[in-house]
Amino acid sequence: MVYPIVMYGDPVLRKRAKEIEKASDLKPFIQDMFDTMYAAHGIGLAAPQIGKGIRLFVVDGTTLEDIEDDMTGFKKVFINPEILEENGDEWEFEEGCLSIPNIRENVARQAELKIRYFDEDWNLKTEKYDGMKARIIQHEYDHLDGKMFVDYLSPLKKRMLKGKLTDISKGDVDTEYRILAPLKK
Ligand code: NI
Repeated sequence: MVYPIVMYGDPVLRKRAKEIEKASDLKPFIQDMFDTMYAAHGIGLAAPQIGKGIRLFVVDGTTLEDIEDDMTGFKKVFINPEILEENGDEWEFEEGCLSIPNIRENVARQAELKIRYFDEDWNLKTEKYDGMKARIIQHEYDHLDGKMFVDYLSPLKKRMLKGKLTDISKGDVDTEYRILAPLKK
């Protein structure tokens, strides 16, 4: 099932998402997450973005062609993830977000991370990532803590985007996927 994607301004995107009870059968939900992400041509999607305040996100970077990093096998589900460390120099990249359509801005993030999480079969994993994979994980992980990429922008940039963000909250934005806008009348 393809869900509408929750737009900027919805409180669900600003709350700390809740831990998921171990051994829950998440398979149908995970399928919905992937279906929704692919329908919107995203490379990552966090549960709060479909209105569910739980600690789960999915990624699939395997369709990225214009990126130098090797994305082979980078189709994954992260359940109750915990970033254990972030290392390396910060680097900037223009990020976007399905909940903030048609806005892209440079965000600086650290280059490497170590993350512990459960996969879709509730196996506990600890892995290291760098480059674009790390960035995708950092962006989605932020969603579970109620954080969005625009939070990293300068006060000036934020002021400049304010009108556009308000339009997005009202549903006044062009997308090729279904959206749920909190201020839509
Ligand atoms: Ni996002």
